[in-house]
Amino acid sequence: MADLLVTGGAGFIGSNFVHHVVEHTDLGVTVLDKLTYAASRESIDELPSDRVELVEGDITDATLVDKLFSDHGSVVHFAAESHNDNSLHDPSPFIQTNIVGTFTLLEAARKHDVRLHHVSTDEVYGDLDLDDPKRFTEDTPYQPSSPYSASKAGSDHLVRAWVRSFGVRATISNCSNNYGPWQHIEKFIPRMITNLIDGVPPKVYGDGLNVRDWIHADDHSSAVLRILEQGRIGETYLIGADGERNNLQVVKALLAAFGRNEDDIEFVTDRPGHDRRYAIESGKLRSELGWSPRFQDFEAGLADTVAWYRSHEDWWRPHKQATEAFYAAKGQ
Ligand code: NAD
Ligand code: DAU
Repeated sequence: MADLLVTGGAGFIGSNFVHHVVEHTDLGVTVLDKLTYAASRESIDELPSDRVELVEGDITDATLVDKLFSDHGSVVHFAAESHNDNSLHDPSPFIQTNIVGTFTLLEAARKHDVRLHHVSTDEVYGDLDLDDPKRFTEDTPYQPSSPYSASKAGSDHLVRAWVRSFGVRATISNCSNNYGPWQHIEKFIPRMITNLIDGVPPKVYGDGLNVRDWIHADDHSSAVLRILEQGRIGETYLIGADGERNNLQVVKALLAAFGRNEDDIEFVTDRPGHDRRYAIESGKLRSELGWSPRFQDFEAGLADTVAWYRSHEDWWRPHKQATEAFYAAKGQ
């Protein structure tokens, strides 16, 4: 019996978390992943087979989930449809995986008294104005903007209800924007890096002043492990690394890394309902659980990420044409 079940462990952050667990603990890990377009088996392939096992399956499959929960004491739940632009195109899989899938896990956690950590996003809080001094805290009211963030908000509410009504031993974390290796090239930073590798200008939505609060995926993983091990049941913890940058700042840093003119940017059609600013106040996690981020220098982390995409072209190249065709059809 493996100790830990990780849903979505072949995705961007889930696979980083599995590496983190193998490196920093003695736990055995079972990954449950549907291997959607966003997954990559390669991200966990090289981990030792006596520590990590991959089960290909869907979190909405109640029979499979019940069997896996009967064999595991703890579950970390990353599996999700994760991309806002896709949710604007077709919300249906977001409702199915993010809401019905989380419900399916909660029912199994309730039946088998399994400890569950639910991984969520800061987008459940909506957005902040650029000149607002406030940041999101655990007490910020929910106000999601997109089908993706609404589906994650729904899943968070289900988790809290299962804790309160059925005594499920769960915690929740809401994290800001992650960057690092193995992120699908549909997302902002990898899309811009792979454009620049191809000599294509970065494509920035709207005026480019939207702010995201960047954190390295490995810091997200260390925070999730800390909450799993030491978090108080029923509590929510916000995860962030004080990495606020607007999209133009990120793109200019990337242009500089490629030795390109900092104005070589193509402004494209804005995302409908585009959230203006996210910002995380992570004081509770830091003071209560003693967590702090390891990657404090965003520009250095970005340079490492550029180097990673340069050296992993075999991995992302097969997806580039279809990804760009999806955006081109929307004028992006
Ligand atoms: P991702 O899209 O890279 O990976 C998602 C993984 O879930 C994939 O491996 C996919 O195959 C799997 N999956 C999807 N549907 C499934 C299903 N029905 N059954 C089983 N597996 C399924 O996503 P990510 O960026 O790694 O995000 C992981 C989690 O972290 C999500 O819950 C997301 O909401 C949350 N999150 C992401 C960020 C971010 O910046 N990317 C920030 C905060 C929170
Ligand atoms: O805040 C956490 C969230 O961060 C996670 O919950 C989501 O799973 C994750 O995808 C991410 O959501 P965003 O919508 O913020 O990330 P994305 O990479 O899609 O876009 C980041 C910013 O860049 C956003 O302001 C939109 C902009 N953008 C994006 C793309 C793909 C562009 O300007 N051009 C682009 O081509």
